[in-house]
Amino acid sequence: MAYETLLVETLGRVGLVTLNRPQALNALNRRLLDELKDVLAGFQADAGIGAIIITGSEKAFAAGADIKEMQPYGFADAMVEDLAAGWDDVAGCRKPMIAAVSGFALGGGCELAMMCDFIIASETAKFGQPEITLGIIPGMGGTQRLTRALGKSKAMDLVLTGRLMDAAEAERSGLVARVVAPEKLMEEALAAAEKIASHSLPATMMAKEAVGRAYETVLSEGMRAERRLFHALFATEDQKEGMAAFIEKRKPAFRHR
Ligand code: CAA
Repeated sequence: MAYETLLVETLGRVGLVTLNRPQALNALNRRLLDELKDVLAGFQADAGIGAIIITGSEKAFAAGADIKEMQPYGFADAMVEDLAAGWDDVAGCRKPMIAAVSGFALGGGCELAMMCDFIIASETAKFGQPEITLGIIPGMGGTQRLTRALGKSKAMDLVLTGRLMDAAEAERSGLVARVVAPEKLMEEALAAAEKIASHSLPATMMAKEAVGRAYETVLSEGMRAERRLFHALFATEDQKEGMAAFIEKRKPAFRHR
């Protein structure tokens, strides 16, 4: 597939996707979604990829779902097409994903960043769910993931007023894992992705799955799931190797990485 809206690179064991619709501040249209799903499916199937970074431009990670594309929709169109539901496939990617965010991450852009496992933000980043100003509400998970990330009060503040939040507030609120100087953003994201990709892939995938369960279930169910995944990792050669390497005071040579 030739990509019109994305730039895709493989840097060692890291898959890097750059959203590339500069004329529309990387607004997320149907074509971009199809292309992103295709890229992620490829990275998922490629045993050589251990971590993925999604990023945008300096000015915008993404300014939201494409308003020009959505404007003509009626209820029946949105309902029959199940508008925005295709993004669940992006959120369902099983390999670790980092969002490297500079500039605007608004509406669907903020929601895409939240679909990733964690967010590294430039000091210039601005997050928000301004859908209310368009007469709609978030549709790609914003009301749910933002509330889980920030708590009810701040999520309500952002979703009901449509105001933007800067990087410092986003970090204070727990939306963002790290904030770095703009010129350090990709360096920091790549270093984190390379670190993740250096670990055993079954272990990082299970870690992602286990933390993900905390979002979706009650504590006792989440604990049960964690325990089973924890037990399952003892069936891998990488567990033997990782623990042997610790005991022998050497670096592990993971087979599945
Ligand atoms: N959809 C389509 N086009 C968009 C867009 C979007 N979400 N955001 C920006 N663009 C386009 C603009 O229309 C403009 O194109 P033209 O030059 O052809 O007019 C171009 O990108 C540059 O944008 P601006 O001139 O507006 O740039 P700015 O620097 O003055 O403002 C901004 C930047 C504050 C981010 C502003 O563009 C903006 O408010 N964008 C919309 C943000 C928004 O409301 N996002 C939510 C979308 S709805 C959604 O996401 C629903 C969902 O949950 C699924």
